[in-house]
Amino acid sequence: MTGQAATMTPDDRYRRYQDLQRYVGWTDDDARHVGSVVDLLDPHLAPLVDDFYAEVERHPDARRVMTGGPDQVARLKGTLLAWLRELLSGPYDREYVERRWRVGWRHVEIGLDQVYTNTALSRLRRGLLDALDRAWAGDAAAVAPARRSLNTLLDLDLAIIEDAYQAEYLNRRRRAERMAAIGQVGGGVAHELRNPLNVIKTSVYYLLNARNPTPDKTAEHLRRIEQHVALADGVITALSDFARMPVPDLEPVAVRSVVEEAVEVNPLPAAVRVAYEWPPDLPPVLADPDQLRIVFANLVRNAREAMPAGGTLTFVGRAAGGQVEVTVADTGVGIPAEHLGRVMEPLYTTKARGIGLGLALARAILDKNRGALGVASRPGEGTAFTVRLTAAAG
Ligand code: HEM
Repeated sequence: MTGQAATMTPDDRYRRYQDLQRYVGWTDDDARHVGSVVDLLDPHLAPLVDDFYAEVERHPDARRVMTGGPDQVARLKGTLLAWLRELLSGPYDREYVERRWRVGWRHVEIGLDQVYTNTALSRLRRGLLDALDRAWAGDAAAVAPARRSLNTLLDLDLAIIEDAYQAEYLNRRRRAERMAAIGQVGGGVAHELRNPLNVIKTSVYYLLNARNPTPDKTAEHLRRIEQHVALADGVITALSDFARMPVPDLEPVAVRSVVEEAVEVNPLPAAVRVAYEWPPDLPPVLADPDQLRIVFANLVRNAREAMPAGGTLTFVGRAAGGQVEVTVADTGVGIPAEHLGRVMEPLYTTKARGIGLGLALARAILDKNRGALGVASRPGEGTAFTVRLTAAAG
């Protein structure tokens, strides 16, 4: 339940308070018991408040948040007095809970360590109970219900304050996770972009400075620049595609040509042999061709990185029960079983290069294109990804 604290509305908080009331067995009788000692306790509240701030003064970590001098202390004494009076008289309705929650939240905002609100409440509790005992003229047993109800009431108020701290804790954790993710993506993108940029820089340097550039050499460098601009563009496109994946525009697509194009655009080293097995009657699939291109481009790049020493990349197409499957199998390093379940998670990568978006992106695209991505691997032997797509009718 506390997991929701960060996103709770006033109504949620009130419902939660009522639930906690039921949990501790709080009833209207408890409210009456507390109400019956309001007048008795009232003259003792101001000294209690004085004692409260005197104690704050004695603890440097608590005192630290009191930045407004004597004026602030005087004002806070007034607010604490009002807080105590409302505690004793209620009513314990939605507005009560909301006001208490805001007081708790104020302490979170000023950076007061939670232990001080806890111990300060404990000190208030002792003060209130001692005052009650002293002021009570009758027999001790008769005051027991008021004592018990007062204790329960303070516990409920403490729960509200703790919720405020919990909400902040969850917010902070969420922010930290987001920052970590941004750092990770940023680092990965920087790494991925630096490579093509370095190649481009080298080629530009050649073109600007070569004494007698042959037309062949010039053309080669221009091609390299073009190729690496495309690579850098691909990194950025993958990221923005991931951040804002458009709704696919489904149409019949010849998967074979998409695959062969992906291989062409993402060249493989000479040491990697490419083999295709396309049945002649492979039906077209229903997909967004632009998005499907991203899927296969990522699988080709992934295979290329899995086979640094070369190998074979095999594409096998197969039609089965209204679906078309394309298996993309490499003979690379393979993926250890402990990573296999996670390789399609965003930002999960086992490679020195790469930001861990490629496979996650492929899976996200296939999900939206009525398809799926499967993976099987044997470390040392290779990995096979299976792209499943819906066959286009007719
Ligand atoms: C459970 C114990 C506590 C209760 C019931 C309590 C009560 C209050 C109340 C009612 C306010 C006014 C909130 C508002 O209207 O904005 C407040 C604010 C504040 N409290 Fe407490 N407080 C507690 C513990 C502490 C402790 C231990 C300190 C230690 C220094 C502290 C320091 C402050 C400060 C600095 C403010 C902000 C004042 C401002 O906005 O200028 N409180 N507290």
